[in-house]
Amino acid sequence: MLPLPMRVDLDKYREAGRIAATARRQAITQIRPGVKYVDVLDTIEDFIHAQGAELAFPAQVSVNGVAAHDCCGPDDLRTFAEGDVAKVDLGVHVDGCIADTAATADLGDHAALLEASRQALEAAIALVKPGRRIKEIGAAIQGTMAALGFKPVSNLTGHGIAPFTIHCSPSIPNVPEGASGELKEGMMICIEPFATTGSGYVAEAGKAEVFGARRKLKAPKHVEQGVVDQILERRGLPFSRREIARKHGTAAAEKALKDLLRAGAIFAYPPLVETKPATVAQFEHTMYVGADDVEVMTR
Ligand code: CO
Repeated sequence: MLPLPMRVDLDKYREAGRIAATARRQAITQIRPGVKYVDVLDTIEDFIHAQGAELAFPAQVSVNGVAAHDCCGPDDLRTFAEGDVAKVDLGVHVDGCIADTAATADLGDHAALLEASRQALEAAIALVKPGRRIKEIGAAIQGTMAALGFKPVSNLTGHGIAPFTIHCSPSIPNVPEGASGELKEGMMICIEPFATTGSGYVAEAGKAEVFGARRKLKAPKHVEQGVVDQILERRGLPFSRREIARKHGTAAAEKALKDLLRAGAIFAYPPLVETKPATVAQFEHTMYVGADDVEVMTR
Protein backbone atom coordinates (compact mmCIF):
# COMPACT_ATOMS: atom_id res chain seq x y z
CA MET A 1 0.00 0.00 0.00
CA LEU A 2 1.25 3.47 -0.84
CA PRO A 3 1.77 5.90 2.01
CA LEU A 4 -0.51 8.92 1.83
CA PRO A 5 1.36 11.94 0.45
CA MET A 6 1.64 14.83 2.88
CA ARG A 7 -0.88 17.55 2.26
CA VAL A 8 0.72 20.31 0.23
CA ASP A 9 -0.98 23.46 -1.01
CA LEU A 10 0.51 23.32 -4.49
CA ASP A 11 -1.06 26.57 -5.68
CA LYS A 12 0.72 28.55 -2.97
CA TYR A 13 4.02 26.88 -3.88
CA ARG A 14 3.37 27.69 -7.53
CA GLU A 15 2.76 31.34 -6.67
CA ALA A 16 5.92 31.50 -4.51
CA GLY A 17 7.84 29.77 -7.30
CA ARG A 18 6.66 32.19 -9.98
CA ILE A 19 7.65 35.20 -7.87
CA ALA A 20 11.02 33.67 -6.96
CA ALA A 21 11.86 32.81 -10.58
CA THR A 22 10.99 36.32 -11.77
CA ALA A 23 13.06 37.92 -9.01
CA ARG A 24 15.99 35.63 -9.87
CA ARG A 25 15.86 36.43 -13.61
CA GLN A 26 15.69 40.17 -12.93
CA ALA A 27 18.63 39.98 -10.52
CA ILE A 28 20.83 38.12 -13.00
CA THR A 29 20.28 40.82 -15.66
CA GLN A 30 20.93 43.57 -13.09
CA ILE A 31 24.38 42.23 -12.14
CA ARG A 32 27.00 44.24 -14.08
CA PRO A 33 30.46 45.59 -13.22
CA GLY A 34 30.13 48.64 -10.96
CA VAL A 35 26.66 47.76 -9.63
CA LYS A 36 26.42 47.59 -5.84
CA TYR A 37 25.61 44.20 -4.32
CA VAL A 38 23.11 45.82 -2.00
CA ASP A 39 21.15 47.35 -4.88
CA VAL A 40 20.60 43.90 -6.38
CA LEU A 41 19.49 42.47 -3.02
CA ASP A 42 17.17 45.41 -2.32
CA THR A 43 15.60 45.09 -5.78
CA ILE A 44 14.91 41.38 -5.17
CA GLU A 45 13.38 41.98 -1.74
CA ASP A 46 11.31 44.99 -2.84
CA PHE A 47 9.93 42.98 -5.77
CA ILE A 48 8.94 40.05 -3.55
CA HIS A 49 7.12 42.38 -1.15
CA ALA A 50 5.46 44.28 -4.02
CA GLN A 51 4.05 40.93 -5.19
CA GLY A 52 2.40 40.50 -1.79
CA ALA A 53 4.74 37.69 -0.74
CA GLU A 54 7.35 37.46 2.02
CA LEU A 55 11.04 36.55 2.17
CA ALA A 56 11.73 32.95 3.11
CA PHE A 57 15.25 34.17 3.91
CA PRO A 58 17.23 37.33 3.13
CA ALA A 59 18.36 37.53 -0.51
CA GLN A 60 22.06 36.69 -0.79
CA VAL A 61 24.85 37.25 -3.25
CA SER A 62 28.03 35.19 -3.00
CA VAL A 63 30.88 36.06 -5.35
CA ASN A 64 33.75 33.95 -6.79
CA GLY A 65 35.16 31.64 -4.06
CA VAL A 66 32.34 32.47 -1.65
CA ALA A 67 29.82 29.70 -2.27
CA ALA A 68 26.85 30.79 -0.16
CA HIS A 69 25.43 32.86 2.70
CA ASP A 70 27.06 36.16 1.81
CA CYS A 71 24.68 39.03 2.42
CA CYS A 72 25.04 42.79 2.60
CA GLY A 73 25.47 44.54 5.93
CA PRO A 74 23.89 47.89 6.79
CA ASP A 75 26.64 49.98 5.15
CA ASP A 76 27.83 47.65 2.43
CA LEU A 77 29.68 49.41 -0.42
CA ARG A 78 30.81 46.35 -2.38
CA THR A 79 30.34 46.41 -6.16
CA PHE A 80 30.60 43.73 -8.84
CA ALA A 81 33.79 43.68 -10.89
CA GLU A 82 34.74 42.51 -14.38
CA GLY A 83 35.47 38.77 -14.22
CA ASP A 84 33.22 38.03 -11.22
CA VAL A 85 31.05 34.95 -10.84
CA ALA A 86 28.07 36.04 -8.73
CA LYS A 87 25.57 33.61 -7.25
CA VAL A 88 22.15 34.98 -6.31
CA ASP A 89 20.19 32.85 -3.84
CA LEU A 90 16.69 33.90 -2.79
CA GLY A 91 13.63 32.52 -1.07
CA VAL A 92 9.97 33.51 -1.23
CA HIS A 93 7.08 32.34 0.88
CA VAL A 94 3.34 32.62 0.42
CA ASP A 95 1.63 31.77 3.72
CA GLY A 96 4.68 29.69 4.66
CA CYS A 97 4.87 27.83 1.32
CA ILE A 98 8.49 28.35 0.30
CA ALA A 99 10.26 28.55 -3.05
CA ASP A 100 14.08 28.58 -2.89
CA THR A 101 16.06 29.27 -6.06
CA ALA A 102 19.51 30.36 -7.17
CA ALA A 103 21.37 31.22 -10.36
CA THR A 104 24.80 32.51 -11.34
CA ALA A 105 25.81 35.61 -13.29
CA ASP A 106 29.07 35.37 -15.22
CA LEU A 107 30.93 38.68 -15.64
CA GLY A 108 33.98 36.89 -16.98
CA ASP A 109 34.88 33.79 -18.91
CA HIS A 110 33.36 31.03 -16.80
CA ALA A 111 30.74 29.62 -19.15
CA ALA A 112 31.95 26.02 -18.73
CA LEU A 113 31.77 26.20 -14.93
CA LEU A 114 28.22 27.61 -15.05
CA GLU A 115 27.26 24.95 -17.56
CA ALA A 116 28.53 22.21 -15.23
CA SER A 117 26.23 23.40 -12.45
CA ARG A 118 23.29 23.99 -14.78
CA GLN A 119 23.57 20.60 -16.49
CA ALA A 120 24.06 18.81 -13.16
CA LEU A 121 20.82 20.38 -11.92
CA GLU A 122 18.94 19.25 -15.04
CA ALA A 123 20.43 15.73 -14.78
CA ALA A 124 19.26 15.58 -11.17
CA ILE A 125 15.75 16.87 -11.96
CA ALA A 126 15.41 14.22 -14.68
CA LEU A 127 15.85 11.54 -12.00
CA VAL A 128 13.29 12.90 -9.53
CA LYS A 129 10.43 10.47 -8.87
CA PRO A 130 9.02 8.55 -5.92
CA GLY A 131 11.32 5.68 -4.94
CA ARG A 132 14.43 7.24 -6.47
CA ARG A 133 17.45 6.62 -4.23
CA ILE A 134 19.00 9.94 -3.21
CA LYS A 135 22.44 8.43 -3.74
CA GLU A 136 21.65 8.21 -7.48
CA ILE A 137 20.95 11.93 -7.61
CA GLY A 138 24.29 12.74 -5.96
CA ALA A 139 26.03 10.40 -8.40
CA ALA A 140 24.38 12.10 -11.39
CA ILE A 141 25.42 15.56 -10.16
CA GLN A 142 29.00 14.47 -9.55
CA GLY A 143 29.20 12.53 -12.83
CA THR A 144 27.80 15.38 -14.92
CA MET A 145 30.28 17.84 -13.44
CA ALA A 146 33.23 15.46 -13.75
CA ALA A 147 32.48 14.96 -17.46
CA LEU A 148 32.84 18.73 -17.89
CA GLY A 149 36.04 18.94 -15.82
CA PHE A 150 34.65 20.22 -12.52
CA LYS A 151 33.61 18.86 -9.16
CA PRO A 152 30.70 19.54 -6.83
CA VAL A 153 30.97 21.09 -3.38
CA SER A 154 30.56 18.01 -1.20
CA ASN A 155 29.50 19.68 2.03
CA LEU A 156 26.65 21.78 0.67
CA THR A 157 23.43 19.90 0.02
CA GLY A 158 19.97 20.20 -1.39
CA HIS A 159 17.17 19.78 1.10
CA GLY A 160 13.50 19.36 1.78
CA ILE A 161 11.27 22.29 2.65
CA ALA A 162 8.18 22.39 4.83
CA PRO A 163 5.80 25.18 5.90
CA PHE A 164 7.89 28.00 7.41
CA THR A 165 10.90 25.64 7.37
CA ILE A 166 13.69 26.28 4.89
CA HIS A 167 15.72 23.13 5.57
CA CYS A 168 14.34 19.73 6.51
CA SER A 169 14.88 16.15 5.46
CA PRO A 170 15.72 14.73 3.04
CA SER A 171 19.28 15.99 2.66
CA ILE A 172 20.24 15.77 -1.03
CA PRO A 173 24.05 15.76 -1.31
CA ASN A 174 25.80 16.74 -4.54
CA VAL A 175 27.86 13.54 -4.26
CA PRO A 176 26.74 9.93 -3.65
CA GLU A 177 28.70 9.67 -0.39
CA GLY A 178 26.61 10.49 2.65
CA ALA A 179 23.33 10.22 0.75
CA SER A 180 20.71 7.93 2.19
CA GLY A 181 17.06 7.12 1.73
CA GLU A 182 14.80 7.73 -1.21
CA LEU A 183 12.42 10.34 -2.55
CA LYS A 184 8.76 9.94 -1.67
CA GLU A 185 5.61 11.19 -3.32
CA GLY A 186 4.50 14.50 -1.80
CA MET A 187 7.96 15.77 -0.91
CA MET A 188 8.86 19.38 -1.75
CA ILE A 189 12.61 19.46 -2.35
CA CYS A 190 15.38 21.83 -3.44
CA ILE A 191 18.32 20.61 -5.51
CA GLU A 192 21.34 22.92 -5.67
CA PRO A 193 24.52 21.62 -7.30
CA PHE A 194 27.50 23.89 -6.59
CA ALA A 195 30.28 23.43 -9.18
CA THR A 196 33.79 24.45 -8.16
CA THR A 197 37.30 24.79 -9.55
CA GLY A 198 38.72 24.29 -6.04
CA SER A 199 38.80 21.64 -3.32
CA GLY A 200 35.10 20.79 -3.27
CA TYR A 201 34.76 21.84 0.35
CA VAL A 202 33.54 25.04 1.99
CA ALA A 203 34.11 26.37 5.49
CA GLU A 204 32.59 29.24 7.45
CA ALA A 205 34.58 32.48 7.10
CA GLY A 206 33.98 36.17 7.70
CA LYS A 207 31.28 38.19 9.40
CA ALA A 208 27.75 36.79 9.46
CA GLU A 209 24.97 39.04 8.15
CA VAL A 210 22.24 36.40 8.24
CA PHE A 211 20.80 34.93 11.43
CA GLY A 212 18.33 32.30 12.47
CA ALA A 213 16.08 32.14 15.51
CA ARG A 214 14.07 29.44 17.15
CA ARG A 215 10.34 29.88 16.69
CA LYS A 216 10.10 30.59 20.42
CA LEU A 217 12.67 33.29 20.96
CA LYS A 218 14.04 33.42 24.53
CA ALA A 219 15.43 36.94 24.56
CA PRO A 220 17.14 38.45 27.62
CA LYS A 221 15.06 41.26 29.21
CA HIS A 222 17.47 44.05 28.27
CA VAL A 223 17.20 43.42 24.49
CA GLU A 224 15.12 46.09 22.74
CA GLN A 225 11.57 44.72 22.42
CA GLY A 226 11.11 46.20 18.93
CA VAL A 227 13.99 44.08 17.63
CA VAL A 228 12.62 40.98 19.33
CA ASP A 229 9.18 41.61 17.80
CA GLN A 230 10.70 42.08 14.35
CA ILE A 231 12.50 38.72 14.64
CA LEU A 232 9.34 37.00 15.93
CA GLU A 233 7.43 38.27 12.88
CA ARG A 234 9.76 36.10 10.77
CA ARG A 235 8.18 33.00 12.43
CA GLY A 236 11.49 31.19 12.75
CA LEU A 237 12.73 32.06 9.26
CA PRO A 238 16.19 33.66 8.83
CA PHE A 239 16.68 37.44 8.90
CA SER A 240 19.47 39.89 8.11
CA ARG A 241 21.31 42.43 10.23
CA ARG A 242 20.47 44.94 7.49
CA GLU A 243 16.70 44.59 7.91
CA ILE A 244 17.00 45.07 11.68
CA ALA A 245 19.25 48.12 11.12
CA ARG A 246 16.80 49.61 8.61
CA LYS A 247 14.10 49.71 11.28
CA HIS A 248 16.09 50.36 14.46
CA GLY A 249 19.36 51.97 13.32
CA THR A 250 22.73 50.31 12.88
CA ALA A 251 24.00 50.80 16.44
CA ALA A 252 20.83 49.38 18.02
CA ALA A 253 20.84 46.45 15.60
CA GLU A 254 24.48 45.64 16.37
CA LYS A 255 23.87 45.73 20.12
CA ALA A 256 20.66 43.68 20.08
CA LEU A 257 22.10 41.00 17.79
CA LYS A 258 25.27 40.74 19.87
CA ASP A 259 23.20 40.30 23.04
CA LEU A 260 20.90 37.73 21.41
CA LEU A 261 23.87 35.77 20.06
CA ARG A 262 25.58 35.80 23.44
CA ALA A 263 22.37 34.54 25.09
CA GLY A 264 22.10 31.74 22.54
CA ALA A 265 18.67 33.04 21.45
CA ILE A 266 19.74 33.38 17.80
CA PHE A 267 22.48 31.84 15.71
CA ALA A 268 24.61 33.15 12.86
CA TYR A 269 25.03 31.91 9.29
CA PRO A 270 28.51 33.15 8.27
CA PRO A 271 29.58 33.10 4.62
CA LEU A 272 30.61 29.65 3.32
CA VAL A 273 33.87 29.94 1.41
CA GLU A 274 35.83 27.42 -0.69
CA THR A 275 38.80 26.17 1.33
CA LYS A 276 41.11 26.68 -1.70
CA PRO A 277 41.29 29.67 -4.08
CA ALA A 278 38.41 28.85 -6.43
CA THR A 279 35.45 29.96 -8.44
CA VAL A 280 32.05 28.50 -7.59
CA ALA A 281 28.80 28.45 -9.60
CA GLN A 282 25.34 27.39 -8.40
CA PHE A 283 21.88 26.83 -9.83
CA GLU A 284 18.93 25.76 -7.70
CA HIS A 285 15.29 24.86 -8.18
CA THR A 286 12.44 23.94 -5.86
CA MET A 287 10.30 21.03 -7.02
CA TYR A 288 7.41 18.78 -6.04
CA VAL A 289 7.79 15.03 -6.19
CA GLY A 290 4.50 14.00 -7.79
CA ALA A 291 3.21 10.46 -8.26
CA ASP A 292 4.10 10.38 -11.95
CA ASP A 293 6.23 13.43 -12.59
CA VAL A 294 8.23 16.23 -11.06
CA GLU A 295 6.84 19.77 -11.00
CA VAL A 296 9.58 22.41 -10.90
CA MET A 297 8.15 25.47 -9.14
CA THR A 298 10.93 27.95 -9.93
CA ARG A 299 11.42 27.60 -13.71
CO1 CO B 1 18.35 25.88 -0.91
